[in-house]
Amino acid sequence: MATRATVRQTADQAASGGVSRPIAVLVVHGPNLNLLGEREPEIYGRTRLADINKELKQLGRELEMKVETFQSNSEGAIVDRIQKARGKCDVLILNPGAYTHTSVAIRDAIQAVNIPVIEVHLSNVYRREAFRHHSTIADIAHGRIMGFGAESYSLALRAARTMAGESRRRSA
Ligand code: DQA
Repeated sequence: MATRATVRQTADQAASGGVSRPIAVLVVHGPNLNLLGEREPEIYGRTRLADINKELKQLGRELEMKVETFQSNSEGAIVDRIQKARGKCDVLILNPGAYTHTSVAIRDAIQAVNIPVIEVHLSNVYRREAFRHHSTIADIAHGRIMGFGAESYSLALRAARTMAGESRRRSA
């Protein structure tokens, strides 16, 4: 019996000229997100980063996508990881943490690699301090998902699936 995943895969396969390469997604977590679960749980929830990553990989398998994850507290390391994804990744899911509000370097890296980005935040930054209302990447992101705690990431992964599928069908 054709499952939803195989029907979807066949459609994508047809769209990509019969070559079936799984949609590749890179999930990048910025500074202090390694402390999720312990850090201000009233804002960020009790789910640990390792559990978020595990769930994303599991969901990736269900949706037939290749999911890689990366976390760094350093702006340069995040820029390096984004550059490394050039030509290898269909969608970037990015929570830049506090760099959201300051980093021109991360914005420039996104523009340099030309990979569509979904900006993610656990908290709804608009319900918080004014300095968190500005994002250096909001206007170049394909979309933004925030305020759903750890679920923001799985919502983003589902959106990435739709987005990359549509883009493949368009370019077929
Ligand atoms: C955050 C929001 C940022 O303002 C903050 O600096 C973070 C986490 C979020 O996921 O809600 O580190 O990106």
